[in-house]
Parts: sequence; C-alpha cells; structure tokens
Amino acid sequence: MLENVSQLVEMQLPALGPNDRLLLVHPPSDEGVSLLARRYPGQVSVFSWDAGIHARSDALGDGKLLTGIQGDELQPVVGGEGVSHVVLYMTKAKERLELTLALLAETLSIARYVALVGEKRSGVESAARRLHKEKGWAVRKDASARHSQWWQVVPSRDTGRFNLDRFSSVYSVGLMGEGVESCTKLHVSTLPGVFSHGALDAGTEFLLAALQDVVTQRVPQTLTVFRRSGPAAKVLDFGCGSGVISLWLAHHFPQLRIDALDIDALALLATRRNCSANSINAAQIQTRLSDGLSALTGRYALIVTNPPFHQGQKQDLNVTRQFLRECQQHLTPTGELVLVANRFLPYAECLEGSFRRWSILSENGRFRVYHAQM
Ligand SMILES: C[S@@+](CC[C@H](N)C(=O)[O-])C[C@H]1O[C@@H](n2cnc3c(N)ncnc32)[C@H](O)[C@@H]1O
Repeated sequence: MLENVSQLVEMQLPALGPNDRLLLVHPPSDEGVSLLARRYPGQVSVFSWDAGIHARSDALGDGKLLTGIQGDELQPVVGGEGVSHVVLYMTKAKERLELTLALLAETLSIARYVALVGEKRSGVESAARRLHKEKGWAVRKDASARHSQWWQVVPSRDTGRFNLDRFSSVYSVGLMGEGVESCTKLHVSTLPGVFSHGALDAGTEFLLAALQDVVTQRVPQTLTVFRRSGPAAKVLDFGCGSGVISLWLAHHFPQLRIDALDIDALALLATRRNCSANSINAAQIQTRLSDGLSALTGRYALIVTNPPFHQGQKQDLNVTRQFLRECQQHLTPTGELVLVANRFLPYAECLEGSFRRWSILSENGRFRVYHAQM
C-alpha cells in the first residue's frame, strides 16, 4: 500500500539519468522507497530516523541509509553523497524540517533538483512559503493530487555552522531522596519532534510520582525488581522519548539494566546524550530502535511505559493495543508492567485480555497508572 504522498512522488518525480542519485528525506515507511530503489538500483539513498524505514533498509541495495547520527553526535551530511535529486517529505513533527535542512545544507546546495512534498494537512504549503519568506528560497507549486502537494524549491546557500544546541531545549525533574524534600535534579534535553519537547509531560510526571511512592513505601504496593538484590534485573522503557523514565530508574536503581526503546532514532540519540549529561553509566541504559516490540528478543522483569496514543495529530491506539498483546512474550514469568495513560483511554479492557492480574497503582482526575502481572 502506498500512502498518498508516495503516490504523488511516483507520478511527479522526474526520470533519473544513469549518473543521477536520488536522496529521499524522511519518506513514509510504506512500499514507496522499495519501489524507487527497484526502479533505480544503486541510485537511491534515504535519510531517515524511523525504525520502520531502518527495518526495510535491505531494499536500498547499494543505496545508503543516512541519519546524521554518529554515536552521541548529530553531524551534517558532508560531501553531498553525489546527490543530484532530493525529495524532502514533510514529517509528522513539523518542527523537524529546520533541523533536517541544517543537517543537509551542503547536499541541498549541490543538488540539481529539490522538491518538498507532503499531504495538504501536513502543512507543506505553509512550510514552502516560510522557506521563501525566511530563507529566501525560490519555491513553486508544481502539482497537487492525492490530497498532497509537490513544491519544486531552489534552496539558497546556508553558510552557518551546524550547532545542535540551537535545536535542543532542556527541562529538569526533581528527584526526591527518602525523607528529603528535593535534593538533586535530572536535566533532560529534548530535540525537535521528540515527545514533550521542552517540558516534562504531565502523564510522565504522574507516573514518576507513583513510582516514587512505591520507592518510599508511601503506598503498600511493591514492585519486585525494586526490592531485588543479586543479578541485574532487566527493565524495558517502551517508547522512551528523551529517556526521562529510564534516567529516573537508573538514578534510583543502579542495579537495573535498562533497554530504552523507541521508533525514533532521534529520540534514542536524545536518550544517550541525556545519560552522559546526567552521569549515568552508559552500560546501564542501552537504546533500541524498534517499531513496537518487533526488534526485541529478550525478556524483562519490568516494562515501564507512557505509551503512544497518537499518530501525527490523530488519536490512534493500535500501537499500544499491539504492544499489550505482545507484552507477555517479553516478560519473565514473574514480570510486571507499569503503564500510565489518560483515564479515558480503554486500556483496562486490553489488560484484562492479556494479564492474569492487574490493578490501579495510582490515579487522579486525568491519569491512571496501571500495574499488571503475568
Ligand atoms: C507518550 S511518548 C512517551 C515518551 C517518554 N517516555 C516520556 O514519558 O516523555 C510515546 C513514545 O512512543 C514512541 N512511539 C510511537 N510509536 C511507536 C512504536 N510503534 N514503537 C515504539 N515506540 C513508539 C514515540 O516516538 C514517543 O517517544
């Protein structure tokens, strides 16, 4: 199945000559990339942070998969990779466009043909007009079909040095010691399009408060891994975003070995950077790029999550429903799940179907923290 925007690219992309090279930037993870890679073997590369695209990277054959990510750094793509044509897709997180353009500035200035594409509701038109107004790019709408638009653009030369700090923003999370009001703080840096950019999410805050109550025994409930000594217990933070839950756990329980999983490579980069910024041993938190639980093989004593319930602007519970169905295959026989969600979301029914026992660890007018056991 091709998404609308991929159908427009199929129709509108100029034919490539034998020496041309095409770079697709943040394409959707449908069949579109494979189709073009088959049509132009060895001539198509992709720039993407999406686990869905990474899982299909075999389809690129000799083409390259670029991310700009090197270890804990985000580096501009230098040398332009010999690219002649670039298709920039509007991403669900609109604020990523500027960061992407900064990373690809050199490639864009070398390319002969650059297009900006997106569904109308993605804000492609206002993005094109902004590029014209703010950066002086020449822009022209060449096609409109399948609820999507194709803008041919001529980027102006960007001479600025890439500086990641310009795109990141930091928030703090107070950490309570036993009997102490507030002692240290975690500093969490976020990047554009990574969940809760610039501020701690209210649901995550409620989850951490509930975990804090368990740690300080203000509630009778216990989580087995928090009490366990001996060999390191494995914990999964599903949909880790900037890694705030993993950091909180690592800070309180140095004996835990945490896998921080997200579909978004930029979220994982933020998580790794936040580990070092908060002096957390890199061996304690491993990042895992995965769409749902598909890339995991191991089992965990605890899975903690503030799971996604949106795809773009739309509410969509499918990812979390599937996660709850598959959770059991990734928990140890005594494994536990802690999940925070808005009260109105129907997760109780899903837990009922998948777990032997579940209860509500904590709730207020907006959120519920569920606790489930195998
Ligand atoms: C509600 S946010 C929580 C982020 C972070 N744990 C926090 O509390 O700030 C949900 C996260 O799930 C990730 N996500 C969305 N769909 C996913 C999928 N199919 N597989 C894995 N992670 C996904 C998103 O990228 C996002 O970072």
